Amino acid sequence: MDKRDLVIVIGKNSQLAQAIADYIERQDKTNSFQIHFFDRATLDLTSPSSLLLALNPYLLNRELYNSIVLVNTAAYTQVEKAEEEPQKALEVNATGVQNLVQIAQKNRLGILHISTDFVFDGEKRCPYTEEDTPHPLSVYGKSKLEGEKTLKPLQSEGMAMVIRTSWLYYHKAAHGNFLLTIADKLKKGTPLNVVNDQLGVPTNAYDLAEFIVLALKLFFKEGRFREPLLHFCNEGSATWYDYALAIATYLGLPSDILPVSSNEYPSRALRPHYSLMSTQLLKSVYNYHPRKWSEALAETILRLPGNEQKGEKRD
Ligand SMILES: NC(=O)c1ccc[n+]([C@@H]2O[C@H](COP(=O)([O-])OP(=O)(O)OC[C@H]3O[C@@H](n4cnc5c(N)ncnc54)[C@H](OP(=O)(O)O)[C@@H]3O)[C@@H](O)[C@H]2O)c1
Repeated sequence: MDKRDLVIVIGKNSQLAQAIADYIERQDKTNSFQIHFFDRATLDLTSPSSLLLALNPYLLNRELYNSIVLVNTAAYTQVEKAEEEPQKALEVNATGVQNLVQIAQKNRLGILHISTDFVFDGEKRCPYTEEDTPHPLSVYGKSKLEGEKTLKPLQSEGMAMVIRTSWLYYHKAAHGNFLLTIADKLKKGTPLNVVNDQLGVPTNAYDLAEFIVLALKLFFKEGRFREPLLHFCNEGSATWYDYALAIATYLGLPSDILPVSSNEYPSRALRPHYSLMSTQLLKSVYNYHPRKWSEALAETILRLPGNEQKGEKRD
């Protein structure tokens, strides 16, 4: 019997896992690997017994597969709430990842893990590279950095890759996101105050999903990840205010949006004022050239309920 490669996506209901599922369904008809998605109810990162229960059917039949890669999209992502419950954030974002690493080391599995631009403090004035030293400001950022560190032993063998991304959005977001919140308020005509002194890049989860599938295929072909750590975001830069204005423009709605400074906006978590990340390595090593954030956003807005008929989509 021919052996297959296997991908197990953890965090089935995350924006990113939804985008991976959509990308595979729409664009990847080659079926070169098997893929399974696990939600928190069937695979809880923080519970080693739940992890084993979910993964054992594959681990006990390891000889049926060539390579197995765990794609970890699951995380404690509530940046504000993490300030109140740092232990919970650490339990998922650091201990949970450590639990995965232990299973991966025992069973020779690869891990593709997602991290964040919030590991940086924003003191730089040119895009952060993979060489830059992280210095997170928030509990969420600190917990994600601790998670990154647990992957070091696997990274050194080419068996793990951490992808840092920024301001991720998708039109399917079980727990909401900036895009859906702003779109909803604009449709209701609610006046908005939006922060205009934090610079970053809104990143389309579908674009990241496309890259993840490319990186997985190369891993299966080459037997190791090309890079241990990689920055992925769409091209360009924006403040949250620019982002909100673009949402209004692409929705074709009048915008009653006031730019405000971070000081005027009540927030428990400190966020970097500057979190642009360089995509030089992505371009040179993977020959992947991300699209402009505004173009990617415009396409996703066409997928929001009520906007499907207004224009052409990419697929
Ligand atoms: N959103 C952003 O702006 C952003 C920016 C940069 C990086 N990232 C990173 O990108 C990745 C994907 O983010 P996202 O926005 O797509 O995530 P998301 O939509 O917020 O979803 C996170 C998922 O993680 C699951 N989860 C939480 N605790 C878990 C546990 N103990 N075991 C298993 N699953 C658990 C949640 O399950 P339930 O649905 O059951 O709650 C949820 O479905 C994360 O690593 C995040 O840190 C996100």
